[in-house]
Amino acid sequence: MIIAIDGPAGSGKSTVAKIVAGKLHFRYIDTGSMYRAVAWKSLLKNVDLSDEETVAEIARNVKIDLVPEEGGQSVFVDGENATNQLKQETISRAAAVVAAQPMIRKIMTKKQRELGNREDVVMDGRDIGTVVFPNAEKKFFLDAEPKERGRRRFDELKTKNQEADVDLVTIVEQVKQRDHEDRTRKIAPLRQADDAISIDTTHLDISQVVDQIMKEIGRVLHR
Ligand code: DC
Repeated sequence: MIIAIDGPAGSGKSTVAKIVAGKLHFRYIDTGSMYRAVAWKSLLKNVDLSDEETVAEIARNVKIDLVPEEGGQSVFVDGENATNQLKQETISRAAAVVAAQPMIRKIMTKKQRELGNREDVVMDGRDIGTVVFPNAEKKFFLDAEPKERGRRRFDELKTKNQEADVDLVTIVEQVKQRDHEDRTRKIAPLRQADDAISIDTTHLDISQVVDQIMKEIGRVLHR
């Protein structure tokens, strides 16, 4: 069974997807971290990100392991735990660049389908319900106002590092910029699937979103 959860950055999808996967005893697959892993590996190798052939070669060969752990997930890239590095803003920017390249998307989509065909999964990303698994049993599209999504990202950075040199206005602008890139790219843009259930999380807390999703999944499970 495939549960697809798509949405923009800061919509709450990864937090919610992790909890839903835990409740269902499904595997959680964070596809954003797969694009981040390719970006990180490319930067480590000093590859020009616009050199699609070389980045594709990296995408083809990189080994990405998503390892579930208490309260989250670790990402191992070619055996190295890169969880923290992958969350950095430079990698966010680089991931958006590689995610817009057709060759990279083709390779990552194939890897994601292999993962989903192996076991029951909750998969989150931008194109899971539209491209990767258009026949997913249940699809959700989470969204929230950009200001609120920026605030969440800001709080997350501050929680991790009190001294972090970040300001809310800049973060909101970064969120809007990334949305624009994700929604306007030619291939697999961020878009709600016609049959996805849309949830605006602006004024909801995590448990309310989880409850709503579990209720919908319950309908499929008990059919
Ligand atoms: O969800 P995230 O911020 O970790 O995603 C990182 C980047 O990868 C972001 O620019 C969107 C892109 N992405 C994508 O294009 N398709 C996916 N299925 C997942 C992420």
